[in-house]
Amino acid sequence: MQYKQLDNFPANFLWGASISAYQAEGAFDTDGKLLSIIDKYLHPEDVANFDVASDFYHHYKEDIQLFAELGLKAFRFSIAWTRIINVETQEINEKGLAFYQQVIDECFKQGIEPIVTMYHFDLPYFLEKKGGWKNPETCDAFLTYANVLFEAYGDQVNYWLTINEQNTMILHPGAIGIPENGELPSKKELFQMNHAVLVAQAKTFKLYHELNLKGKIGPAINLTAMYQATASPDDAIAAHNWETLRGWSFLDAAVRGKHNYLFEKYLHDRQWYPTITSEDTLALQEGAPDFIAINYYSTATIAASKNDGSDVSARAGDQQIMLGEEGVYRAAENPYVGKTPYGWVVDPTGLRLTLRKLYDRYNLPILITENGYGAPDKLEEDGTIHDPERITYLTQHIQAIQEAITDGVDVFGYLPWSAIDVVSTHQGFNKRYGFIYVDRTDHELKELKRIKKDSFYWYQQVIARNGLE
Ligand code: BG6
Repeated sequence: MQYKQLDNFPANFLWGASISAYQAEGAFDTDGKLLSIIDKYLHPEDVANFDVASDFYHHYKEDIQLFAELGLKAFRFSIAWTRIINVETQEINEKGLAFYQQVIDECFKQGIEPIVTMYHFDLPYFLEKKGGWKNPETCDAFLTYANVLFEAYGDQVNYWLTINEQNTMILHPGAIGIPENGELPSKKELFQMNHAVLVAQAKTFKLYHELNLKGKIGPAINLTAMYQATASPDDAIAAHNWETLRGWSFLDAAVRGKHNYLFEKYLHDRQWYPTITSEDTLALQEGAPDFIAINYYSTATIAASKNDGSDVSARAGDQQIMLGEEGVYRAAENPYVGKTPYGWVVDPTGLRLTLRKLYDRYNLPILITENGYGAPDKLEEDGTIHDPERITYLTQHIQAIQEAITDGVDVFGYLPWSAIDVVSTHQGFNKRYGFIYVDRTDHELKELKRIKKDSFYWYQQVIARNGLE
C-alpha cells in the first residue's frame, strides 16, 4: 500500500536506544558480581572479551548524560542476574541492586524512561554447572530473581522485558559463546531448555501481574520475516516452516499460552519433544504479556530443502545468517536486498512486513528493542567518526516503521542497537553499532573516551522532530 501522506509518529513515541549488561558494563567481577556463562564460555580469541567491555559500570553517569543530550526518551539496558543474587547462597548483593538503582535514578533525572531487560544471555555460571535451563531449579531461581527485581524497581520501571532473544539462545547457541568443554547442547536438550525458559517467562508474566505493578511486561524475540525464494509452492512451504520454527513458535507459546502445532510436529518427528508436565501446561496458559518486543535486523530468503545432504550451509551462521536444515528449509540469496559488511541482510521494507505480520497475529502493541548497523567505524585524526551507512540504514528503517504505523500497526517505541558502542556477541569491538564511539580496540583499552559519531547528531534531530524530515 502506498499512501499520499504518512501518519506522524505518536507524540509520546519512545525514541530510544539499547545495550545489554555483559556487552557494555565490564566490571565483570566488581562489587560482588559473580560469574555468568559469558565469563566462562569460550569466545573467539582474536577479538575483545567482555571483562571491561565499554566500562559502562564506571561511566554510566557520563553515558546517560550523553543519552540525554542525544534526546533519548527511553534507554533499554539489561540487569546482570549475577550482580543481584548469589544463586548458590540466595544472598542478595546490595551493591548490585544499588548500581541499577543509580542507573534508574540517573535516567529519571535526565528525563529518560528506563526499559529493563531481565535476562540478556548471561545465565549465572553456578546454575549452568547444575545443568542450566535443563535443570528445573533454574526456573525457580529465575522466579526468585524476578521477585527481587520487581520488589526493588517494580514501582519505578514501566517497561520490563523478560528474556532477550530466546530464539538466538536456542537456535544459534554458539553465537554467544561455546561451553568450556567445547560442546553445545544437543537439539533434544536445547528444546527441553527452550520449554523451561518459556515456562519461566510465563510464570514471570503472571507474577508481575499478580503484584499489580503499574508497568507492562513482554518478551523480546529476534524476529525476521521470511521470503520464499521463488513462486514454487515448495519454497512457500519451506519459508512458512522456518518462519514458524524461528519466530512464531516462541511467540505463540508466550502470547497464546501453548506450543505451536507445527513446532510440536517438528519436535515429535525428530524425537526432540520436551518433557512437559501438567503444571507447565497450566503455567503457559496463565501468563501473558502486555506487549511484544522484537529485535529486527534482517529478513531471510528461503527455498525448499533438497534433502540430499546439502541443505546445511558450510559457512558459519549466526543469529541473522540462516544455515538451512535438512527436510525443513534451505537458505537462499535475495537479489533485492543489501548486506552489511558482516553479511547481514539489509531490508527496511522487511521491517514493515515483519511488523504487519506480528500485529496481524497477536494484535498487541509492539516495541522495537533492537535494530542497527554493525560496522568497523573509524576514528579520524580530527576526532570525528563518519558513519553515513548507519544513518542511511536507520533512516530507511524509521521510514518503514512510519509506514507500518500508517498501515495501522501499533508500534510505540524504537530502541536501536546500540546507544553506545558495545562488544559484539562474537565479533568483538571491531563491529560497532553505537551512536557514541568508545575509544578502545579489541586489543587496546586506551582511555575508553566517549566520542559522538555523525549518527549521534543525526538521531538527535530525528528525535527532536519526532520523526524524519
Ligand atoms: C542481537 C543481540 O542478536 O544482536 C545483541 O540481542 C547483539 O546482544 C546484537 O549484540 C547484534 O549482534 P552482534 O552479533 O553483531 O553483536
